[in-house]
Amino acid sequence: MPPYENRDGLQLGIFMPNCSNMYAISTYRTAPDEWEYEANKQIALAAEAAGFDFLFPVSRWKGFGGTTNYLGTSLETMTWAAALLAVTSKLRVYSTVHVPAFHPLVAAKMGATMDHISKGRWGINIVSGWSREEFAMMGIELLPHAERYQRTAAFIEILTGLWTTEPGMFHYDSPWYRIQGGSVLPQPTRKPPIVNAGVSDDAKELVARLCDWAFLGIGSVEDAAVLSQDFRDRARRYGRAIRCACYPFLLWRETEKEAEEVRRAIVAHMDRTAVENWARGLNIGSGSFDQFTLEMFTLGAGALPVIGTAEQVAEKLKRLYDLGIDGALACFLNYHEDTVRFGHEIVPLLKQMGVVSGK
Ligand SMILES: Cc1cc2nc3c(=O)[nH]c(=O)nc-3n(C[C@H](O)[C@H](O)[C@H](O)COP(=O)(O)O)c2cc1C
Repeated sequence: MPPYENRDGLQLGIFMPNCSNMYAISTYRTAPDEWEYEANKQIALAAEAAGFDFLFPVSRWKGFGGTTNYLGTSLETMTWAAALLAVTSKLRVYSTVHVPAFHPLVAAKMGATMDHISKGRWGINIVSGWSREEFAMMGIELLPHAERYQRTAAFIEILTGLWTTEPGMFHYDSPWYRIQGGSVLPQPTRKPPIVNAGVSDDAKELVARLCDWAFLGIGSVEDAAVLSQDFRDRARRYGRAIRCACYPFLLWRETEKEAEEVRRAIVAHMDRTAVENWARGLNIGSGSFDQFTLEMFTLGAGALPVIGTAEQVAEKLKRLYDLGIDGALACFLNYHEDTVRFGHEIVPLLKQMGVVSGK
């Protein structure tokens, strides 16, 4: 039984390495770090050729310590997306915006600009923020969890209002923002897709009411069915339809044994201090990642491990799709190499299985 009617094929994305040491919190590497712009650009071009649909960054202001200072060097994602949109022609490119760090009118204006640069290929991931250290560096205190999401809701209502209301006619009052006669000109050519990537009840309600996509942190394939159904049911209560993506760590070799050996090497070289800092920060407030172990955080910072042969990886992606996942945001060990290999070795299998539309 399909999870719902009139589905598109699985949307393929890449969780891009715009930050250092992505995407394993480990000192194990078989290729140089790829955070620099030129590497990101080459990955974007390879992704377009391989049949990917979208690119997604990580927004960070500070690293997580340890020997790798995990994510410590990073490209800011509004400016990063603008550059990648200018050199690609088909891919959607997302920016990730921390609500406490941007004014919504400024974000709306930047987004409208990127929509025009790219002829409608930009999208936005709006996150409430969770790392106290990052915001302490800016002198900003994180709000309590529920209020954080109330403010994020206001942020999204303002973006949408500015993008769709007659210029000069948009007004909004809230404890955090006051917009009077709001105007963003040009408005985007179409409303950019809005993503949120939280999994708490506060996040679920926000996505159900105001977003287009939920990006889920899931610990097992089975979680995919339960969580995506929950998100869709909540959206239906608001008379809306949303889509769900998850982020798998994709690792495949000729044999299952070889792939498992690489997985073991990554975990054996865990940057324990960085993993502990990451896990401690993320659990503040909601407990959304309570069931995750340090080992799970090591691979893709909490990504779903999808490991084996090319056929096993394709089968598992199909299973996720059958269980209600509409998009997969790939985390890789070596981004450029794996993006090209994915295009040659996995996309044809997904096409044969009817999981992705003819690309
Ligand atoms: C796919 C994905 C991407 C995310 N990207 C970011 C990010 O770039 N920056 C950030 O601070 N948090 C990011 N998050 C964290 C979420 O926004 C959220 O804060 C976290 O999942 C905890 O939220 P919750 O308490 O509502 O569950 C991401 C989460 C997921 C699943």
